[in-house]
Amino acid sequence: MRNLMDITDLSVFELQSMMTLADDISSNPQRYGDALKGKKLATLFFEPSTRTRLSFEAAMYELGGNCLGFSEPKNSSVSKGESIADTSKVISQYADIIAMRHPLEGAPLVAAQNASVPVINAGDGGHCHPTQTLADLYTIYRKKGKIKNLTVGVCGDLKFGRTVHSLLAALSRYDGIHVVLISPKELELPEYVMKQIPKAFGMTFEKDESLEHAISKLDILYMTRVQKERFHTEADYERLKDCYILNAEKMGFAKKDLVVLHPLPRVNEIDPEIDSDPRACYFEQVLCGKYMRMALILTLLSPEFFNASDCNRGSMVRLFSTAKLQNDAESELERSRLYCKNPSCITSTEIGLQNGFVLKEASQKEPRCPYCDAKLQ
Ligand code: NCD
Repeated sequence: MRNLMDITDLSVFELQSMMTLADDISSNPQRYGDALKGKKLATLFFEPSTRTRLSFEAAMYELGGNCLGFSEPKNSSVSKGESIADTSKVISQYADIIAMRHPLEGAPLVAAQNASVPVINAGDGGHCHPTQTLADLYTIYRKKGKIKNLTVGVCGDLKFGRTVHSLLAALSRYDGIHVVLISPKELELPEYVMKQIPKAFGMTFEKDESLEHAISKLDILYMTRVQKERFHTEADYERLKDCYILNAEKMGFAKKDLVVLHPLPRVNEIDPEIDSDPRACYFEQVLCGKYMRMALILTLLSPEFFNASDCNRGSMVRLFSTAKLQNDAESELERSRLYCKNPSCITSTEIGLQNGFVLKEASQKEPRCPYCDAKLQ
């Protein structure tokens, strides 16, 4: 059984197959109208969402399936103190596949460890958002006809913007990608995201705090909202919220075939006057998201994938190299126990999930939490 926790759980070959499938779905929707008849998708959304949840639901309905779930934790037994593990075991009895969004990082991975049906990470805190990346990659592919040799600007909240983290992880496996990081100092990309970029494909980076200055070099501009809900103080948010606003004047410096993307919702960062510019592709990106979620659900529920044994890429690999401490009495293990200190990690709250890890491989120089990627201490 396969899950999607992190975009690197899918190989570049699998991503390409999904994009080809999404192309076919968009050209021949009638072929897929009964594909998942009788199947159910559970959308477990512990954090607000409009497009991601509705996109999953629209995708499942268009495949002939049905949906159940909740869009607020107060409508679930979690408000009574139920663990993610138990919720996942219960929902597995009702649904064939689960899409989970949660404010705590790594929560969908706990669900995947406990569910008996495939689990899709629909966004976990500020960590990652692989299905938005499916939408982003497919939009780039449709607009540019390729995902290589591109200069991609990511602009805004690179610190808490989980869509950027997943997008860069995905793009880092394609050739010739140059990334321009456009953010204020306070909202720079977390170092763990940079550390995970493989060297092999030669992704290169530059920083540029000025959107006006950077825009002329770009083939793709990925705008993001400042993530208000992840700030510790309102004052910090107020100070940074309008750090970048894309308007017609700045678009005047851009290439004629620039592709402007945004995962949405937008707040102030793109002036609506841009919407009618043919280079504004963020609403098409929404449609691409639905097609890619259809392709993903079909793929995860297809018998070959469902029975696949090679589910050990990406986040799953990391879980295997960092073992949960099983036995407190083993004093040697106790001495080598490492902790995740990230308060936004699921290990800080999940009942029965011990927040202590032992390394299985001495070669792991900088051990990271398998749930949230924070450095273990
Ligand atoms: C993004 C998210 O939830 O991270 N939205 C989405 O899923 N389309 C971006 C955001 O909320 O800013």
